[in-house]
Amino acid sequence: MKILAIETSCDETGISLVEATGGLEAPHFEVLGEALASQAELHKEYGGVYPSLAKREHQKNLVPVLQETLKKAGEASPGTETSPETKETVTTILEREPELAEILLSEASKLPKPRIDAIAVTVGPGLEPALWVGINFAKALSAVWNVPVIPTDHMEGHIASVLLSRSNEISLPSLALLVSGGHSDYYIVRCWGGYERLGGTRDDALGEAFDKVAHLLDLPYPGGPEISRLAEKARSKAPTPTTTYQMPRPMIGSGDYDLSFSGIKTHVLYTVRNQSDKLNEERKETIAREFEDAVIDVLIAKASNALNEHQINSLIVAGGVTANQELRQRFEELSQEREMPLFLPSPELATDNATMIALAGYLNHQHGGKTYSVNPDLKADGNKIL
Ligand code: KG4
Ligand code: ZN
Repeated sequence: MKILAIETSCDETGISLVEATGGLEAPHFEVLGEALASQAELHKEYGGVYPSLAKREHQKNLVPVLQETLKKAGEASPGTETSPETKETVTTILEREPELAEILLSEASKLPKPRIDAIAVTVGPGLEPALWVGINFAKALSAVWNVPVIPTDHMEGHIASVLLSRSNEISLPSLALLVSGGHSDYYIVRCWGGYERLGGTRDDALGEAFDKVAHLLDLPYPGGPEISRLAEKARSKAPTPTTTYQMPRPMIGSGDYDLSFSGIKTHVLYTVRNQSDKLNEERKETIAREFEDAVIDVLIAKASNALNEHQINSLIVAGGVTANQELRQRFEELSQEREMPLFLPSPELATDNATMIALAGYLNHQHGGKTYSVNPDLKADGNKIL
């Protein structure tokens, strides 16, 4: 089955064309073409993702990203003139995205129907104004090309991201930890498409905590990579009395799988405020390292508890925060200690992308066995729970 996937839940505009085979027992994927336009630079000055800017940028980027994807997939044969009916359909569906409608119609004659069986689109969780652009684009393409749409969960996408190259090695049930800018959750993957949530953050997501702590340390957005860079610097130096410092490990002994990162952020806020002299580089490095150590200690402790309490055959850690080297390293260590195979996405698949949405769309389609319709009545669900 060939799936064209669209991802616009946050600040990345992604489209990917994937061939999926093997069903739920032995899913196998081949990426035929994919492209991504990142808006990260544009959102920097706002210190976070600015929803109406994200919506505008997705409108601008979707058609060029689609064209690049189709070209890479060898699907760039010349198209035909757009009929007046098609024009009307596109204009109606994209009523709230006039800029996108205009670009799509001006390029439509160069966009013939690719050889696809379905379109997968992220319907949530994420920023609703951003999600809507992708959803309405999927609906417009579905109507024009007469192909069904598979509404897809962004978090299932993050879980599925580990399946691209090593699907046949992952033995289920698996314990999956998802750590991104919007989520920090533990799941048990009982079968592909079947997930049981064990627990997760009660307040800030892990990526959000990295970003907020970075902001307190006067570091640019997104803060995760900045904290990571400073923490690595601190680890490369011999500890001194001024760099020895302990933060709390929130909820480490709570006996459940819930997490809380807002207290540790407040702890950093007071530490910075109480600083009599200016926050120097060494102090920032120390805070960054200790913050990483504290949050990773909690994540590892709870993952370890889950391995004790549940029948688990493998470990998955996915989401944007898996770009963090220390987190990867500590989970590698846990995997070795517990003789439990660990699956992490490649760096390109760790952060938001459309390939993972194609993979999740396939799993969802196979698991539900539902038949999806052309131009279905879909809604964005910013707080969708997997
Ligand atoms: O999964 P993702 O790309 O987007 C969401 O779905 O949220 O995750 C983005 C998050 C941001 O909060 C970013 O700061 C964090 O991942 N991140 C990192 C690192 N690289 C990105 N956090 C810690 N260390 C990193 N190296
Ligand atoms: Zn994400």
